[in-house]
Amino acid sequence: MKKKKNKDYNIDRLLDSLPTTLLLINRQKRIIEANPEATKFLGENIESKTIDEVFNCSEEEIFDKVFEGGTIERREIELEDRIIGFSASPLYNNENEIEGASIILRDITEIKEMEEELRKKDRLAALGEMVAGMAHEIRNPLASIKVGIESLSFDEEKNEKASRYKSIILKEIERLERIVNDMTVYAGEKPLNKQKVNLQHLINQTLMMFHQEMNERNIEAKNIYQGELDCMVDRDQMITVLTNLLLNAIHSIGKDGLIEIRTKEKERDLMIEIKDNGVGIPEKVLSKIFIPFFTTKSEGTGLGLSIVNRIIRNHNGIIQASNWEKGACFFIAIPKGF
Ligand SMILES: Nc1ncnc2c1ncn2[C@@H]1O[C@H](COP(=O)(O)OP(=O)(O)OP(=O)(O)O)[C@@H](O)[C@H]1O
Ligand SMILES: [Mg+2]
Repeated sequence: MKKKKNKDYNIDRLLDSLPTTLLLINRQKRIIEANPEATKFLGENIESKTIDEVFNCSEEEIFDKVFEGGTIERREIELEDRIIGFSASPLYNNENEIEGASIILRDITEIKEMEEELRKKDRLAALGEMVAGMAHEIRNPLASIKVGIESLSFDEEKNEKASRYKSIILKEIERLERIVNDMTVYAGEKPLNKQKVNLQHLINQTLMMFHQEMNERNIEAKNIYQGELDCMVDRDQMITVLTNLLLNAIHSIGKDGLIEIRTKEKERDLMIEIKDNGVGIPEKVLSKIFIPFFTTKSEGTGLGLSIVNRIIRNHNGIIQASNWEKGACFFIAIPKGF
């Protein structure tokens, strides 16, 4: 290693001002130096602790390689709820002997989260393709089965059993058709048919569809809005969004409750908030509810929210789910599109 003589710069000050977290350890793995960034990151009083204590890691031999002249590059450890990336290289003294190691740390939690997000998007894109293929393969035989069953003619009064089976089969075919239709929406096969729509009218119309069911369950809907709320959207697909969100809210309430729908304009966007006072979304499933086929219901297909998410994304909007003190809350922001 070539050493620089006649230093005319202050190496301590350089280390102090370095915007990088740097630690020096001796061969006993005790911290002998920590720059200000490191104490900011790992807390005061880290000097004199061992690196194993700081890292909370049990891999004893992790630095042996460095003490023999090697380097560690881009290793990852978990520190509380953060992911830390670190590199280490040998620390030489003036006699060119290895005295310890220098360690550079970096909090890479956000980078890791972004990577995971990208992987998720890739997986979803692949899943979308598969779903589109499956929907296509199911649709045709299903249509033939439907035609076949419908054309079965017999005396319905005399063949009560056959007639009952026929109507069950036709109902199940309808259910499958709905699922296949949902799958094609999810796969993004249906192009957007945008038209000028008033969001308030759309919400009122959708609420009308649930009027009876909500009355029977004693669920009240509060529709609170501000502004004009005109937008260019695919009317049918937006009804699908509202229907799914309302249905979920109704199911989570069961009986006796309130659904609040607030809509307003914010610059070029429309904001929609649908809040219910039902059971809420368990924290551990919050991150999964937009994944196709994820459901906690025995009768659910788990496609509802993934379709909602897909439609909102196709409109260049965003949707987020959270819990408030009494139930679930869904928030949508969507461009007005003018
Ligand atoms: N308003 C809500 N309150 C509580 N949990 C909810 C709410 N909305 C959705 N969830 C949770 O998210 C899961 C996924 O919802 P999603 O609408 O995608 O599927 P599903 O309702 O189970 O079935 P379906 O495909 O018939 O809609 C639900 O099973 C439920 O656990
Ligand atoms: Mg649903």
